[in-house]
Amino acid sequence: MLRNSRDSFGLVSILFHWIIALIFLGQIFLGYLMVRTSDFTLQFNLFQWHKSFGFLILGLSALRLIWKFLNVRPRDPETMPPIERVAAHAAHVLLYLSLFIVPLTGWAVASSSPLQIPTFMFNLLVVPQLPITISDSAEAFWSASHAWLAYLSSVVAAAHILAALHHHFWKRDAILIRMLRSRVVGTGSKHAN
Ligand code: HEM
Ligand code: HEM
Repeated sequence: MLRNSRDSFGLVSILFHWIIALIFLGQIFLGYLMVRTSDFTLQFNLFQWHKSFGFLILGLSALRLIWKFLNVRPRDPETMPPIERVAAHAAHVLLYLSLFIVPLTGWAVASSSPLQIPTFMFNLLVVPQLPITISDSAEAFWSASHAWLAYLSSVVAAAHILAALHHHFWKRDAILIRMLRSRVVGTGSKHAN
C-alpha cells in the first residue's frame, strides 16, 4: 500500500520518515564531530558530506510535505488522551519545521562566510550561495543560529523517540508498528509481543 489510510501510513510516508530520520540523526553527529576536528583535509571533506546530506534532507522534506498534503493522516488511537495528542502533534510540527529551518540556516552559514567555499553536492553539482550579506559577523550569527536550532531540534527528536518507545513498550498500542509497516488495522489495538 503506497498511500496512507485512516488506519495506517503507506509505504511512501514510511520510507520518507525513516530515510529522513536516519540522515537527520547522522547530521547531528557529523556536525558535532566536524567542527571539532583539527585535521584540515578531513574537516573539508566532512563539511562537504554534511552540506550534501543537508541539501538532500531539504529536497526530500519538500517532497515529503507535498506527499503529506496529498494524503490523509492516520487517526490517533481512541485511547490517547487529548493532552498527548496535542503534545504529539506539536512535536511533529516542530520536527517538520526543523527539517527546513536547520538546513536553511546551514546554507546561510556557508553563503555568508567570507571564505565562500562552494558546496560540491555529492561531487555531482555545485550548489549556489544564498544572496545574503557576506561578513564575519553575519557568518557568526548564522553559525550560532544553525547550531542552536540543530541541537534544540535534536532535543525535540529525542522526546519524540522516547514517546514512540513509550507507546510501543508501555502502552502497547500500534503507533510505532504503523510507522514500520503499512496496513495495520485498528490503531488502538494491542500488538502481539
Ligand atoms: C537537517 C540538516 C542539518 C543538521 C541536523 C545540521 C546540524 C549541524 C550541527 C549539529 C552542527 C555543529 C554545530 C556546532 O557544534 O557548532 C553543524 C554545523 C554546520 N553546518 Fe549543519 N546541519 C544541517 C544542514 C546543513 C546544511 C544544508 C549546511 C550548508 C549548506 C550546513 C552547514 C553547516 C556548517 C557550515 C557548519 C559549521 C558551522 C560553524 O562554523 O561552526 N548544515 N550542523
Ligand atoms: C528512532 C527514531 C524515531 C522513531 C522510533 C520515530 C517514530 C515515529 C512514529 C511511531 C511516528 C508516528 C506517530 C503517529 O502515528 O502519530 C512518527 C512520526 C513522525 N516522526 Fe518520527 N521517529 C523517529 C525519528 C524521527 C526523527 C529524527 C524525525 C525528524 C527529525 C522524526 C519526525 C517525525 C515526524 C515529522 C512525524 C509525523 C509524520 C506525519 O504524521 O506526517 N522522527 N515517528
